[in-house]
Amino acid sequence: MDRIEFNKAKRFKGEFSPTPDKSISHRAVIFSSLSQGTSVIKNFLRAEDPLSTIKAFRALGVEIDQSGKDIIIRGKGIHGLKEPKDVIDCGNSGTTIRMLSGVLAGNPFFSVLSGDASLRSRPMGRVITPLSRMGAEISGRANNKYPPLAIKGKRLQAMHYALPVASAQVKSAIILAGLYADGVTEIIEPAQSRDHTERMLPSFGAEIKANGLHITIEGGAEMQGRESYVPGDFSSAAFFIVGALLIRDSDVTIKGVGINPTRTGLLNALKTMGAGIEVHNIREVSGEPVADIHCSGGGELHAVTLTKEDIPSLIDEFPILCVAATQADGITSIRGAEELRVKESDRIKSMATELRKMGAEIEEFEDGISIRGKSVLKGGDIESYGDHRIAMAMSIAGLIAEGTTTIRGISSVNISFPGFFDIVRKLTA
Ligand code: S3P
Repeated sequence: MDRIEFNKAKRFKGEFSPTPDKSISHRAVIFSSLSQGTSVIKNFLRAEDPLSTIKAFRALGVEIDQSGKDIIIRGKGIHGLKEPKDVIDCGNSGTTIRMLSGVLAGNPFFSVLSGDASLRSRPMGRVITPLSRMGAEISGRANNKYPPLAIKGKRLQAMHYALPVASAQVKSAIILAGLYADGVTEIIEPAQSRDHTERMLPSFGAEIKANGLHITIEGGAEMQGRESYVPGDFSSAAFFIVGALLIRDSDVTIKGVGINPTRTGLLNALKTMGAGIEVHNIREVSGEPVADIHCSGGGELHAVTLTKEDIPSLIDEFPILCVAATQADGITSIRGAEELRVKESDRIKSMATELRKMGAEIEEFEDGISIRGKSVLKGGDIESYGDHRIAMAMSIAGLIAEGTTTIRGISSVNISFPGFFDIVRKLTA
């Protein structure tokens, strides 16, 4: 039975560590595989998306041992990958297919990347265009729009590229291709997207400089394996931060959460809305800032207005922010967010449709949403469109709704957050 039922939660209390960061888990596997020697990844996220990245690098000839507590990777160096014997299945993972396309663009063999039905409908022109400009032969279904992608890697030329969309996946694909290029590749972002690649790659020995929106990568450096520790995922913590704010009798502490400022736009938005969130014990783990976060319920929230420049740092938190907005006084407006239409589902449409079913007052725009609060949500039969973040956000909505809420398609949470429902159960017990 791929569904779960919730009744209104009476309490939300406890302390836990979130799942390891998904973005950083992918990167640790990719960079370790492209390094010489043995790398160890501690606190790796064993969820479907990062496991797709492990499977992909195995198919490219990298030896990866996931049988113990840590992941052990015997890297091949940037020129040691082998032609895969079959199509590489990237599952549901946009990060896997886009970052891998950057790697394969510089490898002199043929490969095909595909994935599930959702991934096969996500835009790939954004990687095909820049990687072709660097010299790779790369094409995709429907006139180079969608996967499968067929890639014939080439000797690449460095380039200067202004990214048309703020996307860390695309930026990272070009950075990885830049490792294979002759010369210095320069990238300009339209707005700052998450910077985990820029923080982590130099520790493996790559020559990367990031200065605000301007990034340079020198081609040709050899990388050396190392040990890395993956911090807790802010995007996982986000569901419980909002849950704690919306459930009156709540007191939640989340330990060891990554608070990289390119990821924590939701914290800023919630603080502007009047939320009392405490961030304690700030420290650094593997070049990333980490903290413990404490929140409790019963406070009043007010509407917030968010525009294009606010979106990249809360891109994955849009669904749960919509749930918070239904409980904030006034009209919350989130615009300049058209990227949300091309995620694992059309997240603007998914959230508008499902929250309306529960009684929320919502207007949908091509580039965003406006939500008038505060509404009393009522239980209903909720679809999650195979999208993990919709399933989790709507589950939190189910905890504040009157009556019973059924969430369908919950197995998708295994894409990023196995154990999500166990934590919900523990906090509401
Ligand atoms: C990610 C970047 C973001 C984000 C995704 C993970 C990454 O995607 O939505 O969940 O790990 O680089 P875009 O780069 O497409 O915005």
